[in-house]
Amino acid sequence: MNTKMVCEKINISTKALRVYEEYELIIPKRSDNGYRCYSDENILRLREIMLLKEMGFSLKEIKNILDKNKADREEEKGKKVVSSLNFQMKVIENKIIELDNVKNTLKDSINSIINSKEKEEYTLYFEKINEMLEQNKVKRQQWIDRWGFDNWAKNYDSSVVSGNDELNIFQGYGDIMEKVKEVMMARSPQSILDIGCGTGSLCGELSGEIEVVGIDQSIEMLFIAKDRYPAFIGRVGNFLEEPYLTNHFDVVVSSYAFHHLKGEEKLRAIDNMCEYLKDNGRIVIADLMFLNKEKREKCRRDLINQGREDLWDIVEDEYYSDIEELKEYAELKGLKFYYDHMMNFTWMVVIER
Ligand SMILES: C[S@@+](CC[C@H](N)C(=O)[O-])C[C@H]1O[C@@H](n2cnc3c(N)ncnc32)[C@H](O)[C@@H]1O
Repeated sequence: MNTKMVCEKINISTKALRVYEEYELIIPKRSDNGYRCYSDENILRLREIMLLKEMGFSLKEIKNILDKNKADREEEKGKKVVSSLNFQMKVIENKIIELDNVKNTLKDSINSIINSKEKEEYTLYFEKINEMLEQNKVKRQQWIDRWGFDNWAKNYDSSVVSGNDELNIFQGYGDIMEKVKEVMMARSPQSILDIGCGTGSLCGELSGEIEVVGIDQSIEMLFIAKDRYPAFIGRVGNFLEEPYLTNHFDVVVSSYAFHHLKGEEKLRAIDNMCEYLKDNGRIVIADLMFLNKEKREKCRRDLINQGREDLWDIVEDEYYSDIEELKEYAELKGLKFYYDHMMNFTWMVVIER
């Protein structure tokens, strides 16, 4: 496609196109006579750039975001398009979060000024808002697949089986998955939802026999799950999104994914899982957890005494659940809560109405 065709197709000026090229946001190939020749991939890229521009990112920030998000794939066009759309969706999701943060800071400031009896120093509020804008900028650097699941997807299955991390996080992975399946299948469910399903190892093989839906925030994980299990229904999504169905699944399960949620988020995730669940359904969560604060502290001390602060830093980089806190929350909501230790940091929690 030449310059004129591109400009018409995506409604962009030649001047803007040249600026993006100057910043190396896109680099079109040149034909023998030196004319620019834009590929379908260049067009996808341009659509991403235009969206990011629309969302208020500077060209420098766009370059940074796009470089970090570069997919290392030589795949069919359909997958590239889905990846690009998914990326654009994430940009919007994160912009909404940023705007919400600013809105809430403004609201808090307004409420505080209305209700304060003293004469206020108003510059304080502008500083607060600036601080929030700064924090947003910092977070912006972190939101792209923080734990690198898209990049991990291709060798995820072999890496969990070999389990060669120093904390032995995935030790006994195969046996644990079998035990989770037993608990999951105990009442012969006809529909299962797996959140943070990854490559579909836990439930994929059941798809075809019963309804199996997998939700994951990583599009690359979902591609692999879908290639392995064609009847598996993959949905890009998040623990924290409002459920797209309610009172529908016999089992809602999650393995090795819950520890990516912070404390409050875990509680919201449990609420959402309950909403997905039929009245007589069952939630099963297998994940990295501590029984309580004391056990967590003991683990920290043990690792530090062994001179392995580096390993404790790895634990702290994620959010291992506190089982007793989850239990208290579930029981307050009138739910039944059972738990069982599986291996090292891995526990299984079962929640029922
Ligand atoms: C360690 S893998 C576990 C995959 C699979 N459940 C298993 O047991 O092998 C964690 C998965 O959770 C997904 N994930 C992390 N945070 C998530 C979130 N907030 N919502 C949905 N999926 C999430 C990741 O993309 C990744 O596929």
